[in-house]
Amino acid sequence: MATHKLLLLPGDGIGPEVIAEVKRLIDWLNAQGIASFETEEGLVGGASYDADKVSVTDATMAKAQAADAVLFGAVGGPKWDAVPYEVRPEAGLLRLRKDLALFANLRPAICYPALAQSSSLKPEVVEGLDIMIVRELTGGVYFGEPKTITDLGNGQKRAVDTQVYDTYEIERIARVAFDLARKRRNKLTSMEKRNVMKSGVLWNEVVTQVHQREYKDVTLEHQLADSGGMQLVRWPKQFDVIVTDNLFGDMLSDIAAMLTGSLGMLPSASLGETDARSGRRKALYEPVHGSAPDIAGEGKANPIAMLTSFGMALRYSFDMGDLADKLDQAIAAVLARGLRTADLAGDGATIVSTAGMGEAILKEVQALHG
Ligand SMILES: NC(=O)c1ccc[n+]([C@@H]2O[C@H](COP(=O)([O-])OP(=O)(O)OC[C@H]3O[C@@H](n4cnc5c(N)ncnc54)[C@H](O)[C@@H]3O)[C@@H](O)[C@H]2O)c1
Repeated sequence: MATHKLLLLPGDGIGPEVIAEVKRLIDWLNAQGIASFETEEGLVGGASYDADKVSVTDATMAKAQAADAVLFGAVGGPKWDAVPYEVRPEAGLLRLRKDLALFANLRPAICYPALAQSSSLKPEVVEGLDIMIVRELTGGVYFGEPKTITDLGNGQKRAVDTQVYDTYEIERIARVAFDLARKRRNKLTSMEKRNVMKSGVLWNEVVTQVHQREYKDVTLEHQLADSGGMQLVRWPKQFDVIVTDNLFGDMLSDIAAMLTGSLGMLPSASLGETDARSGRRKALYEPVHGSAPDIAGEGKANPIAMLTSFGMALRYSFDMGDLADKLDQAIAAVLARGLRTADLAGDGATIVSTAGMGEAILKEVQALHG
C-alpha cells in the first residue's frame, strides 16, 4: 500500500481543534491498515509568528513542497492585529498558495438533506444540492498589472486594476473543470462577461476550443457571470461544475456557500499543475471558514468542513474516492440522527462538542467498514 505524506498546518484559533478530529480519523485509518498516512506538523499564521516572527518559515515551506498534500486549519485573530503587514497571519496562507502555484480553487457546495432547513433558500431548492465551483486563483484582476492609484492633481484620483488572462491560464483551469465534470455528472458551465470584457471573449473562446479538442463527451454551457449568479440562487441544482475566473469565482463561490447553511460545513481544495514525470500535483486542503476567535478554545467548533477538506484530499490527491464517499455518508448519517454542533443548532437537535461530532462521525465510518 502506498504511503502518503501529509503536512498538517493547524494554525490559530479553532484550526488546531478541527484538525484534531482529522487526526483522530487518520490514526484509525492507519491502525486498521485501510490507508497509510505519514503526517508531519508545522506552524503557520499567528502561531508561527509567535515562535519565529514570520507567518510561515522557509523550513515549513520546504515540508509543504515535499508533501503529497497539505491540510490547513485556519489563521488569524485579534492577538495579531498589530503585527507588521508582511508577517500578518494571512501572509502565511498567501505564500503557500503562491509558492506551491495553486491555480485551481475547488469549492463544492453540498447541502445534506438534514440541513436543508438551515439554508436561507427554500428547502426544496437546496435539498440534495451537490455542485462544484472551480475558481482560477492565481491570475486575473487581483494580480494584473498595472495596479495603481494615481493622484491626478485636480483633486481627483484614478484607481486602476487590470484584468488579464493568457490562453494557457484559461486552458489549464478549463482542463481541471472538465476532468472534474467527467467524474461527476458530465456537465460544465463556464461563466464570464464576454458581452463587456475582452478577457471574457478570450475565456469563452479558449474554453470552447478545449472542449472541442479534448472533452467533446462533456456537456458545455456558457453563461454570463451576472445571470449565472442569479441562476445560482434561483435553481442551483441545474449546475454540476462551474468554471470561472478569480474575481467572479470569489463572489460566486461565496453565494454558493450560503446555499448550504453554515460556514462550518464548507471545504475547499487548491490544486497546482500536474508534474509530468511523477504525475503528482501540489495540493492544499482547507475549510472555507477562518479561525473563529469568538469560539476558540471552547470546544464548540464544527469540524465537518475540516473533515470534508480531508475527504477532498482523499478524492483528488490520493485516489481514494470510496473512502471519501464513506466519510460523506457518515457525516450525513450523524446529521440525520440530529447531532449538531452549536452553529447548526435547530429544533430538536442534540448539541455536541467538536470532539463529540468527530467521535460520532468516526463511529459511523467504522460501522460502514463493517
Ligand atoms: N483561511 C483562513 O485562515 C481565514 C479565512 C477567513 C478568515 N480568517 C481569519 O479568521 C479570523 C476571524 O475571521 P471572521 O470572524 O471574519 O471569520 P470566521 O470564519 O473565523 O468566523 C465567522 C463566524 O462563523 C463562525 N464559525 C466559523 N467557523 C466555524 C466553525 N467551524 N464552527 C462553528 N462556527 C464557526 C465563527 O464563530 C464566527 O461567528 C480573522 O483573523 C480572519 O482574518 C482566516
